Amino acid sequence: MEKGLIRLSECRVAFDGDVVLDNINLYVKDKEFLTLLGPSGCGKTTTLRIIGGFLKPDSGDVFFDGVRINDVPPHKRMVNTIFQKYALFTHLNVFDNVAFGLKLKRPEGKKLSKSEISERVLAMLEVVSLKGFEKRSVSTLSGGQQQRVAIARALVNEPKVLLLDEPLGALDMRLRKDMQNELKQIQQDTGITFVYVTHDQEEALAMSDTVVVMDLGVIQQIGTPEDIYNEPKNAFVADFIGESNIVDGIMRVDGVVEIFGRKFDCLDKGFEPNEAVDVVIRPEDVDIVEYESGQLTGTVTAITFRGVMYDIIVDFHGFKWLIQTTDLCPVGTKIGIKIEPDGIHVMPKSKYSGMYGDYSSYSTDYEDISDVEYDEEEIENV
Ligand SMILES: Nc1ncnc2c1ncn2[C@@H]1O[C@H](COP(=O)(O)OP(=O)(O)OP(=O)(O)O)[C@@H](O)[C@H]1O
Ligand SMILES: [Mg+2]
Repeated sequence: MEKGLIRLSECRVAFDGDVVLDNINLYVKDKEFLTLLGPSGCGKTTTLRIIGGFLKPDSGDVFFDGVRINDVPPHKRMVNTIFQKYALFTHLNVFDNVAFGLKLKRPEGKKLSKSEISERVLAMLEVVSLKGFEKRSVSTLSGGQQQRVAIARALVNEPKVLLLDEPLGALDMRLRKDMQNELKQIQQDTGITFVYVTHDQEEALAMSDTVVVMDLGVIQQIGTPEDIYNEPKNAFVADFIGESNIVDGIMRVDGVVEIFGRKFDCLDKGFEPNEAVDVVIRPEDVDIVEYESGQLTGTVTAITFRGVMYDIIVDFHGFKWLIQTTDLCPVGTKIGIKIEPDGIHVMPKSKYSGMYGDYSSYSTDYEDISDVEYDEEEIENV
């Protein structure tokens, strides 16, 4: 069974009266890959600093393996950190960079012998695919290779937990993708618990067992990547994780939501009859059908070729949706759409309602295209 390793309980941090972490409750399981995801300034690094012991919360507790560690300094925690700006020692070669931490006094008090250090450094360089690089000066390495030295340097101390603050931020897209795979592999091979920080939602979905979505110092949602994508808790999460059309709806009864005066079957339950709700429809969950047979009808106002598919912007009564399709629908085409019940996700109203999920700004030539007329009788019959 999975074991709880780190727990933050009601942790609060304020700087100069500004609350930057608002009663954070977080549970990190042993050996899991947990990612803190959120926009710049939402409190990701601050949360990591609390776990690492570099910052004490103003109130609240931090537990490691069930023991309160608020007052335990960083070097006595079984945690290592790769900081947002990792700094390698440029005057040292690869071997000495990685060996650095091992040459210091160990938490248990005794020092490692030279041969023990050498054995562990070489084994770790192999893990990060840098075997044979020992004597290279780090200043001659590529960005990705330097990144791997930083990872090896942190892993070599065999921490129980590795904290990684945007470790791939400086790398280009291609290298970033490669390193994502490598990091995930290293995490699985070593069984070390990773707490990873990123503001890149794709990276978070691809790498994590658990994603923690944060905004304004508050945890908005905790879940598996699939949960977070398929069942966002509010408009902020829906918008931050992938593309979303978010529209006002009314939950008529369990399993039936009304959007733009039309009733749609959905799988959501547990709302009050006629409760006002936010409805998320992902761009890939909309099927384009003949104009006459659409549940809704609209006009294409923009199209962008994306390789595998087109992104089209469709005007429904002045509200613009992003739809992804493999069909070519030139600007001006009048289309019908259908949405399956599992393509609709209903959320309660929140303070984020109305702030996200509108693609109006995508359209450039909206003025030229008139709204699609609705047949009132047809509306009645839906
Ligand atoms: N020592 C400090 N003194 C004052 N304000 C601080 C301090 N450290 C962080 N903050 C503020 O706390 C908020 C959260 O900062 P934090 O570094 O945790 O954000 P982040 O989510 O890591 O952002 P980014 O993605 O830009 O790194 C920010 O508004 C930041 O300016
Ligand atoms: Mg940060």
